[in-house]
Amino acid sequence: AAARLGGGPLTGRRVLLTAGPTREFLDPVRFISNPSTGKMGLALAEAARALGAQVTVVLGPVGAVDRNGLEVVDVVSAEDMAREVLSRVEAVDWFIASAAVSDWRPEKRAPQKVKKGEEPESLRLVRTPDVLAEASRKVAGAPKRPVLVGFAAETERVLEHAQGKLERKGLDAIVANDVTVPGAGFGTDTNRVSVLTRTGLRQDLTGTKREVARGILELLLPLASEPSG
Ligand code: CTP
Ligand code: CA
Repeated sequence: AAARLGGGPLTGRRVLLTAGPTREFLDPVRFISNPSTGKMGLALAEAARALGAQVTVVLGPVGAVDRNGLEVVDVVSAEDMAREVLSRVEAVDWFIASAAVSDWRPEKRAPQKVKKGEEPESLRLVRTPDVLAEASRKVAGAPKRPVLVGFAAETERVLEHAQGKLERKGLDAIVANDVTVPGAGFGTDTNRVSVLTRTGLRQDLTGTKREVARGILELLLPLASEPSG
């Protein structure tokens, strides 16, 4: 309640998040996706709101979730997500990309259900837009550039891969997630992450997704008041 009365450190700040998976349909009844449940992103949304922020979540298909006090924009595909993010990112103070976006989609989407007798010999895939990289490019050099935070879901050389993404996508921070560790990653209620910042800081956080979300935001709060370049 204190936050809603104006006491939180994110009061008056606008936070845009992506969360959940995307679905890339090959016909009206079949798609490529991943096991993301959106829990980490929604925990971050909730934590940001508790700190006073006005939060918008661009959310992939995750089923019924508590949307209490959050503005939720429902999307299905990576392209939908890119469109909704790119139309909003210039107006926010923070953009946090926690979605597990499909990197590929089927080249073609059949207009009708493909019958089992006519199965394709192969499935041609094409790349989807990188929502975070495109958002970063769009706000680069803007006078009021938002703080940009990414996630890195990895199964090996976790910190090295995360550091590469931090640099390539022009981020202020990245949350590295070893999805092979028990109690971390897809679908769990707990997480274990390493937060890396542009300034070379590293902090490991373990706990419930709610605790980790709070920890991530508290760690990153100072970035919002520093001039970002
Ligand atoms: N991301 C995105 N759009 C994509 C792919 C990724 O916005 N099409 C974002 C994710 O939300 C995450 C970050 O980029 O914040 C890193 O995602 P990840 O899948 O770990 O990295 P990729 O850059 O896709 O590289 P790879 O999957 O090859 O490791
Ligand atoms: Ca990826």
